[in-house]
Amino acid sequence: MVEPVSKLPTRSPTHEDVPIGRLSSMGLELEEIASDDVVDIVALAELAEDRGRPASHYIAAVSLATELLIGPPAPVAVRVCVGVCQRYGALDNLDHLVARKSKGFVIVPVSCLDQCDKAPACEIDGAHGKLVIAPTTAASLDEALDELTGS
Ligand code: FES
Repeated sequence: MVEPVSKLPTRSPTHEDVPIGRLSSMGLELEEIASDDVVDIVALAELAEDRGRPASHYIAAVSLATELLIGPPAPVAVRVCVGVCQRYGALDNLDHLVARKSKGFVIVPVSCLDQCDKAPACEIDGAHGKLVIAPTTAASLDEALDELTGS
């Protein structure tokens, strides 16, 4: 579930949340293609394409409607807030990450990163430590991932 947040950006929301009922039904679809509680990102993207929905909606469902993880594991984890950050473009950033089709990082959707006032927020974890990017843009993700994954 989306956790309550105590602070929000001063600018107006630009996006709407994916309704929780829809996330729940997508979560059930994901459980059908998961193996050992892990759903492969390629299989998730194919499912999204088959259903005519953005991959980002399924990734949000992983965090908000299931106990699943996205795989395969990778040395760099991109933790993307899909909580209230949805209202500030978090899902567009997720679709950008999926479109990169890069090796070397795994997407980890989370319900809050405690950076709500700088939404949309993400955090890149790996051997370099922890890099918080907030607000996140496609360009800032590309710059960080090019540097940290060499891809
Ligand atoms: S809702 Fe708190 S960081 Fe996104």
